[in-house]
Amino acid sequence: MQWFILTLTPMNIDIPNLTAFDAAALDSAFAMLEQQARAAAAAVDGEAAVEAFRLEWLGRKQGRLNEVSGRWLKAAPVEAKKALGQHFNKLKTVVEMLLDEAAGAGPSDAALAAEALDITLPGTRRLTGAEHPITKTLNEITSVFAALGYSVGVGPEVETDFYNFESMNFPPGHPARDTQDTLVIANQDRRPQRDRLLLRTHTSPVQMRTMESQPPPVRIVIPGKVHRNDAADATHSPIFHQVEGLCVDTNITFSDLKGTLDFAMKAFFGSSVKTRFFPSFFPFTEPSADVQISCIFCGGKGCRKCKQSGWIELLGCGMVDPAVFAFAAEKQPAYDSKKISGFAFGMGVERIAMMKYGISEIGKFYAGDMRFLEQFA
Ligand code: DAH
Repeated sequence: MQWFILTLTPMNIDIPNLTAFDAAALDSAFAMLEQQARAAAAAVDGEAAVEAFRLEWLGRKQGRLNEVSGRWLKAAPVEAKKALGQHFNKLKTVVEMLLDEAAGAGPSDAALAAEALDITLPGTRRLTGAEHPITKTLNEITSVFAALGYSVGVGPEVETDFYNFESMNFPPGHPARDTQDTLVIANQDRRPQRDRLLLRTHTSPVQMRTMESQPPPVRIVIPGKVHRNDAADATHSPIFHQVEGLCVDTNITFSDLKGTLDFAMKAFFGSSVKTRFFPSFFPFTEPSADVQISCIFCGGKGCRKCKQSGWIELLGCGMVDPAVFAFAAEKQPAYDSKKISGFAFGMGVERIAMMKYGISEIGKFYAGDMRFLEQFA
């Protein structure tokens, strides 16, 4: 049986005896040692190897330099001792420097080679966030109006019956309420009707909230989420988005409304787009209109998208009904319909985005499918 004792100290220190002490012999003997030290230092890898190198060369009892000073210096004739001492000191400095380098240098060339990176490889791609197409469209619409001096407002999604309906001139029991199938919050029967909570069916209640909080003039656009008890299909979703607009000042006329929306549609869809206004009905505007734009797909000639009509219906608008101003005047008397007038408009964001990007199913916006969403990044 064989026993191996593993220690960090080198097992065989072979320092030859020096027989000649002339300058040439000393030069070559120390040069050889230095070469060995450099080779050993270059192979050092890791903390344990650094310590082994230190012990092998600088160890107090068995280190190579100790051997050299012990054997060579003792054997040297007196006249060679000085030169030998100088050689020795130089070698010691070199070895100490090699030790320092090995200790601080980190991994050896071999270790580095093993870990080497090919910096020409493509890096790990980080996905940066991008705007959702609905957010993008909301922002594009609001920025068209921001450029006209409109500010941007928001309001709550859980709204009272008063703001969503009554103050917008949908009195309790009025049939116009049936046009907006409403999701209501349960268990509120004991509250007065106007305080009952519901999910807002349109962004129009923010018109009232805005007017209550500031006297005229007002120029505001309100982007936001709205909810209706509609069954989902290719073009309907129970949650969707609208952008509301309100402009109130002295002498605001229907011409201002037409001019503003015509400008906005051209800014948004391109300068060749035409607009036309059809009589319509909304409780909170009088007169009311539906706005159509010339078909952006066929330029108005007639195609499948516009059902051969050349026109696409895009939004509702009208002059603010005096009954709405009367509600606002309860908190802000300056909304006196004898002194001021205004217009309002509201548009569905999904519908506009679907048209602009050629999307045929509204559900794609909410499915969270990266393959769809990435096309807008
Ligand atoms: N609130 C209406 C809806 O959701 C849209 C609308 C029409 C808003 C006309 C307006 C407007 O401000 O003047 O159907």
